[in-house]
Amino acid sequence: MTNEVPDKSKRQFLTTALTVVGAVGTGYLAVPFLSQMQPSAKAMAAGAPVEVDISKIEPGQLIRVAWRGKPVWILYRTPEVLEILANDTAKLADPNSNESEQPEYSSNPMRSIKPEIFIAVGLCTHLGCSPTFRPEIAPNDLGKNWKGGFFCPCHGSGFDLAGRVYKSVPAPTNLVIPPHRYITDSLIIIGDESSEANA
Ligand code: FES
Repeated sequence: MTNEVPDKSKRQFLTTALTVVGAVGTGYLAVPFLSQMQPSAKAMAAGAPVEVDISKIEPGQLIRVAWRGKPVWILYRTPEVLEILANDTAKLADPNSNESEQPEYSSNPMRSIKPEIFIAVGLCTHLGCSPTFRPEIAPNDLGKNWKGGFFCPCHGSGFDLAGRVYKSVPAPTNLVIPPHRYITDSLIIIGDESSEANA
């Protein structure tokens, strides 16, 4: 017979995650990793939807949650970013997302239900690395044409802040938008396949 030893590290993780939930919104470029309201390990493995409170996300801030073992990003886009996304499309491979995976209700130029809130699976569509959040305009390492976006360090693919891939990079398509819907203005559920209600 095996003695059941409480898994202290797992408890510590959950405590830390809940603490982080309360701390969201304290930094412009902070990228906290949230893991909240998890139904159970078994349900999570099966891909249960994840509820996310976005009430404390600040303009310009990106947070992460886990869904089906993947990172999902939630970015609060500023009016300046939305203007760039609307006008700076010449270098994009698929600006209208005709070849990309996204729900019907995100099939619009901003690829989102609400223009300011962008939600995407944070995995490169080339070989699955997790791109880096690079919202700066023209940083030294990415060049003067960089208008803010996500940069994949594995093989150099770049995406704008709507997850649209640039031309001539290894990634073949835009970032994937997961199914999601708003329960309230500040509460989102990720992974709810009944999300057609958003349409
Ligand atoms: S995995 Fe991102 S560019 Fe290859």
